[in-house]
Amino acid sequence: MANTKRQILVTNALPYANGPIHIGHMLGYIQADIWVRYQKMRGHDCHFVCADDAHGTPIMLKAQQLGISPEAMIAQMNETHQADFADFAIGFDNYHSTHSEENRQLSNQIYLANRAAGHIESRIISQAYDPVKEMFLPDRFIRGECPKCDAADQYGDSCEVCGSTYDPTELKNPVSAVSGATPITKESEHYFFKLGNFESLLREWIQGDHLQAEVGRKLNEWFDSGLQDWDISRDAPYFGFEIPDAPNKFFYVWLDAPIGYLASFKNYCDRSGVDFDEFMRADSPTEMVHFIGKDIIYFHALFWPAMLKGAGFRLPNRIYAHGFLTVDGKKMSKSRGTFIKARTYLNHLNPEYLRYYFAAKLNNTIEDIDLNLEDFQNRINADLVGKVVNIASRCAGFINKRFAGQLSSSLADETLFKQFTDQTESIAKRYDQREFAQAMRDIMALADKANQYIDEQKPWVLAKEEGKDAEVQAVCSMGINLFRLLIAYLKPVLPRTAEQAEAFLNIAPLQWADLATPLLGHTIAAFKPLMTRVEQEKIDAIIEESKENMTATVAPAQAATNIEPVAEEIQFDDFAKIDLRIAKIVNAEHVEGADKLLKLTLDIGLDNRQVFAGIKSAYAPEDLIGKLTVMVANLAPRKMRFGLSEGMVLAAGPGGKDLFILNPDAGALPGMRVK
Ligand code: 2FM
Ligand code: ZN
Repeated sequence: MANTKRQILVTNALPYANGPIHIGHMLGYIQADIWVRYQKMRGHDCHFVCADDAHGTPIMLKAQQLGISPEAMIAQMNETHQADFADFAIGFDNYHSTHSEENRQLSNQIYLANRAAGHIESRIISQAYDPVKEMFLPDRFIRGECPKCDAADQYGDSCEVCGSTYDPTELKNPVSAVSGATPITKESEHYFFKLGNFESLLREWIQGDHLQAEVGRKLNEWFDSGLQDWDISRDAPYFGFEIPDAPNKFFYVWLDAPIGYLASFKNYCDRSGVDFDEFMRADSPTEMVHFIGKDIIYFHALFWPAMLKGAGFRLPNRIYAHGFLTVDGKKMSKSRGTFIKARTYLNHLNPEYLRYYFAAKLNNTIEDIDLNLEDFQNRINADLVGKVVNIASRCAGFINKRFAGQLSSSLADETLFKQFTDQTESIAKRYDQREFAQAMRDIMALADKANQYIDEQKPWVLAKEEGKDAEVQAVCSMGINLFRLLIAYLKPVLPRTAEQAEAFLNIAPLQWADLATPLLGHTIAAFKPLMTRVEQEKIDAIIEESKENMTATVAPAQAATNIEPVAEEIQFDDFAKIDLRIAKIVNAEHVEGADKLLKLTLDIGLDNRQVFAGIKSAYAPEDLIGKLTVMVANLAPRKMRFGLSEGMVLAAGPGGKDLFILNPDAGALPGMRVK
């Protein structure tokens, strides 16, 4: 591979500033970080920047619920995110915020250039509006009954029970999730980015080598359904940047989020001396590479190149999308304890284990990646501890004790050494092409060879024989040299272990270019164990802590965000009409075809009731049978797609896994009134 020096700006999708980093996020950051570290080891100028994605309605509302300013909330979150990334050895060159002066200026510049070029249009649209909170409501903040299947408490744009998608105006009995009020429809002027103006540019761009083949195919489908104008404005109140010449109109968060990549880079350039304008001009020879999750391809592969083009900037060279993370074959789940925050993992295990595991599974496709916890433990113990680190521990003792740390002055097996260095370019190519899993397999095959060499040479036997000193030194020096190459190959994945190994080997930081030169006649330092085995208890502790995170020990900040505002006031008479009863769950079963519902049979002393409850995300049927709950006994029966529902059970929580069915004391009896 010709090694002309590349100038690369690398970004990874920006995390929202309203929640903690979890291991699903880490998959993307680790992938990008390995790629960047590899490029740096090759001697390229690679600038890796990121920022918190700090704008939008959810962030504004969360800050309100916490009773603090959005600025204070995002500042706190930025610190927490940076600590998580640093502890996972994500080597950002800069970490910034989309709520920054650089981003305001760049967003205005890009918007105004597009406007001047005729790519912005405004028109009046009608939208759901919360008359109590006096704000327009994003679809996700409207809840109501599904127009297709009548399921209760569905989002404004899609039903989790029957899977249908619809317009928020079709929702039956809609309520604002912010205030509980019934939304009204209100008109307002919005600004649109005319994506269709860029159709021929984008069609040509996606034919170039900028996207994975499967992503290109997906984009073609979008072209077939036509490129729609993109609504880039939101009305006040909104936490974001006010649009120039449009008082009380703000840029939609997705307009300034990718510009946040440039803002972070600009902030970095201003203090490091890199030339931002040179990097960003339309015909810049530098490279811009974005790592993203597959859910945000539309924004990065259509809107983003179009916005940049409209502003006269360079376009991205590559957009690398990855799949989602599952744990033990399933979506991460709070109740199973597999919704693992970065910090929870760090509390128990070495981050490099997870970096290695992800590397061992990642390739250049958008397939999902599974973290199988048993496989994780076995693989770390077998590969890193059993194969790689073991080589050094098998050889270092002899060199240090018998030869004062001095390696021999020639290689005992040059052919074997060459077999290792012969793979320098092929492993490099795997990294460059994001075929990390294949790179890890190739490296582990070499580690097997190194161990086999030591097994055959048996330095521990030679050490007991007379006059075999030079041989012991030669064999162990050979082992140490092979270990050095393995660590160099693994350095993008295991930067901290590599640093410790460099200290042990007493060498300067390993670079790809020096690998062919062995360490001869060189003195190494004392060996300290580089890694320990993954114990089952540690994994169990992570799962336990993740389960706890969802209940009693939720941090106050997070707990507060789950509290919905109090609903519209009612009169005592309204309340008195509700007949609340203790009910015993005598049966609970899955409902075929329903994603959210469980069918409950409730004994309320007088009779048995059948109730469909949307609590499947939080409970398995067998966990419920025999438990007591509280139900509304005089609710008019409702015909649902799956049958008649004769009442409603009371549960608390924001939804999903965080839903707690009210569970009275054992002293309560079915049928008792709750007052
Ligand atoms: O989907 C998300 O989590 C967004 N915060 C990603 C933004 S990426 C970029 F465009 F800023
Ligand atoms: Zn439905």
